[in-house]
Amino acid sequence: MQRRKFLQAAGLSATAIVTQPLLAKEHKRALKRNVAIKPLTLCTWNFHRASAKSWEVLSSGGTALDAVEQGVMVEESDLSNQTVGKGGRPDRDGEVTLDACIMDSNGNCGSVVYLQNIAHPIQVARKVMEETPHAMLAGKGAEQFAYEMGFKRENLLTPQSKAEWEAWKITSQYKPIINIENHDTIGMLAIDKNGDIAGACTTSGMAYKMAGRVGDSPIIGAGLFIDNEIGGATATGVGEEVMKTVGSFLIVELMRQGMSPQEACEEAVNRIVKKNPEYANFQVGFIAVNKAGETGAYCIQPGFSYSYYDQNGQENRPASSHL
Ligand code: GLY
Repeated sequence: MQRRKFLQAAGLSATAIVTQPLLAKEHKRALKRNVAIKPLTLCTWNFHRASAKSWEVLSSGGTALDAVEQGVMVEESDLSNQTVGKGGRPDRDGEVTLDACIMDSNGNCGSVVYLQNIAHPIQVARKVMEETPHAMLAGKGAEQFAYEMGFKRENLLTPQSKAEWEAWKITSQYKPIINIENHDTIGMLAIDKNGDIAGACTTSGMAYKMAGRVGDSPIIGAGLFIDNEIGGATATGVGEEVMKTVGSFLIVELMRQGMSPQEACEEAVNRIVKKNPEYANFQVGFIAVNKAGETGAYCIQPGFSYSYYDQNGQENRPASSHL
């Protein structure tokens, strides 16, 4: 095939082929000049209390890893938050099952899926990372491991979530609702005073999901990915769609190739939209940060925002959307 025809078939122009590596080089140089040493934290949705906790850790000299763990724990503890941790909505059988993962600046990661009866899955995920030779534990094995690590058994189904589930059972209609309460999974990214990046992601998953369903949030690369040389990304929304494009890993790789966090989040959403003609019926949102401390966010439906905190204070930043 002639070069021009090959480029056309691949949907690329000669200019794109030539400039991409140059852009990546330029971007790397820019990052070297401008590596963020100022700490910052950002998380999906307007989880301002979680963001404030994370900032408290960072501003007192703590690590990005401690900041993201302690930040998301605020939402895991909040009984009025029915999408994360204790108080989360159950599956269709009335079981609350939790998914979480954490990743540090050395590329280490830990994850728990389908974890029951433990209020802080993110802490168990960190223990998986630090105390086992594995990256992921599931179900009964994860629960048993949590008890061995000293976590206590708790009933995670609150009276409110139980009553709503019982009302849901009357019709049993399963339809994930877009931006149901203007919050969902919490994914958090932080940069500490050393410029190191870490991330955490935790959720009770889709309300009234099939028993055994696991979403994107505990899947490293889908719900969360960190590369300390480049940046990090995390996701919220319908996990099945995020998994199909390995969204967070994709965003970090696009940043590596020279895209800004905003451009990379947009491209990740565009890939989902291109693949699924039903995109108007569900939400996916991404947030990202690069090594220079630049942030980005993008989603399918309007209504998604992210909470940001640095030395200048806290902000809730609305994300732009495909629709
Ligand atoms: N993003 C959360 C889930 O799909 O479970």
